[in-house]
Amino acid sequence: MKRHITLLWSLRSPCNLGCPYCYFGTIEEHRVKAPAQAGQLSHLSRADLSVKEVFAFARTLGDSAVGRVFLAGGEPLIWPPLIDLIAVLKAAEIEVVVCTNGIPLNRPDVVDGLLSYGVEAVSVSLDSADPGYNDRWRPSRNGMDGWDQVITGIRALVERRAERVHPRIGLYSVVTRLNIPQVVEVAKLAANLGCDYYVPQPVALERTHRFHDELSLRPEDVVPLREAFAELYESGFSLSLPRSTFPGQVVSTILHETGTVADCFGGHRLRFVQPDGSVWDCPSSLKIAETPQGRRRTIKGRNAAELFPAVAGCGAACGLFSRDCVNMWPLMDAVAISDTSEGPR
Ligand SMILES: C[S@@+](CC[C@H](N)C(=O)[O-])C[C@H]1O[C@@H](n2cnc3c(N)ncnc32)[C@H](O)[C@@H]1O
Repeated sequence: MKRHITLLWSLRSPCNLGCPYCYFGTIEEHRVKAPAQAGQLSHLSRADLSVKEVFAFARTLGDSAVGRVFLAGGEPLIWPPLIDLIAVLKAAEIEVVVCTNGIPLNRPDVVDGLLSYGVEAVSVSLDSADPGYNDRWRPSRNGMDGWDQVITGIRALVERRAERVHPRIGLYSVVTRLNIPQVVEVAKLAANLGCDYYVPQPVALERTHRFHDELSLRPEDVVPLREAFAELYESGFSLSLPRSTFPGQVVSTILHETGTVADCFGGHRLRFVQPDGSVWDCPSSLKIAETPQGRRRTIKGRNAAELFPAVAGCGAACGLFSRDCVNMWPLMDAVAISDTSEGPR
């Protein structure tokens, strides 16, 4: 059976950072007003599945059409059972990509665990080569960790990997209207650190978000953004990049609220799982909002083969292409795993 479903598994809610633009919202806001909307994430983690429930489901994945899992959150590497979960996934021959803020990579047991189970890739988030900018928008909850610890964490992983191919190591940056030149600067840093890939991802914020006006990319940002992307793709850095069609997709989400995608992978080759076990076609808030009650499902107490049967044929057209889903393209093109990019490398 071909296992061509990718799960973006937002595994746990807690995080050691408090990024004010985060998809999860902030603890401080949610303490005042708990989110009530279907699909709304929260670092407060009031409904995260138990360890037992997570593992019971994970053990069924090997008999399903799921072939690749991105482990995200929240911060997956601060969850103590994470390495054991990776062991279960790798025993089922599933490709695993860990999405992390990088700070836990300073722990030798974490790095050893990632290496010993042969994780395919580790994607580390860093928004700027400038520590001040990064730590403004990606502040740690303990007030001590930040850019420096992300860099030492990456260096530890690169060094410990030595000559091995895996894990491939990459940087992901959230691009806002305040850090457009960093599209090139973070790539340069990634190349200098010995990383393998780089993905600049546009910030996705609701119009009502308190940082929407300050951070969201606007039509007047398109020219500098195109220039930054052009410089990146012509840079010759030894890094895999998203396909050359990605910058155009990013720009289209700045100029248009929504668009149409023929043959969309959401709900077909991609599924999104939340910490409470909810399963959605993709992380798009537009798509989640229009999911009928009968299509709302959970991994809790369920078997992956029933939830994710082998897929055949093409995905459906989707008229809800937006800022929320543009960031799924680099995942599905597996920039983190194989060199499918048209970038310099
Ligand atoms: C939610 S984090 C979870 C994994 C891990 N804690 C990390 O920092 O990478 C996954 C990715 O989403 C990005 N992200 C969070 N909120 C975002 C937003 N509103 N728009 C675009 N990307 C966002 C983060 O920067 C990170 O690269």
